[in-house]
Amino acid sequence: MIQIAPSILACDFARLGEEVRAVEAAGADVIHVDVMDGHFVPNISIGLPVVQSLRPITQLPLDCHLMISDPGRYLAAFAQAGANWISVHAEACDLGTTLSAIRQLGCRAGAVINPETPIDALLPHLATADYLLVMSVNPGFAGQVFLPHCLDKVRQLRAHLQQQSRAIPIQIDGGITLANVSDAVTAGAEIIVAGNTIFKSADYRTTIQQLRIV
Ligand code: DX5
Ligand code: ZN
Repeated sequence: MIQIAPSILACDFARLGEEVRAVEAAGADVIHVDVMDGHFVPNISIGLPVVQSLRPITQLPLDCHLMISDPGRYLAAFAQAGANWISVHAEACDLGTTLSAIRQLGCRAGAVINPETPIDALLPHLATADYLLVMSVNPGFAGQVFLPHCLDKVRQLRAHLQQQSRAIPIQIDGGITLANVSDAVTAGAEIIVAGNTIFKSADYRTTIQQLRIV
């Protein structure tokens, strides 16, 4: 089952509500919200008030990808603002305590690794994470080029999950296009994040369908 998660980082922020409604109507499964602090990554994006404003306008889960240092400080606030899924980076926190804190708040807990981080950082957490996120660009900006070496990590993680009979999805994020989405799915990714490919396309519904049918 493939899920499509439009990343609003690539949308027209002056029309944020309309953009979210449009991708929901076009068949998106999840809204991916990229939170950046200018410290863990060299860019500042959006945060709590935006999550809170989006909560009443969509039925879809809000998937908050926290690219921030020490994310544990903000988990309760994101849950309170309406986040349904929260993902945190292995490079930014202690995954063990942070993932269980997310689950205690009633949210789905995602564990993320950067393109240069080995999968070993995730392996101890396969039983506690609700999903894994393999970054296929260096986090910080939408519209970067997909890094193909990340597919190996998706394959290896999928094999470890199968060995452990653990059926959680792997999300892939960064540089996904209609040309490479099938490679990501073949490698074992089930949640496809796409920013520019969806929001810069002429017809969101067609693009989401094309991303799903690989
Ligand atoms: C990168 C973000 C991604 C990004 C995806 O730091 O985590 O979610 O916005 O955008 P595209 O699909 O345009 O690379
Ligand atoms: Zn993201």
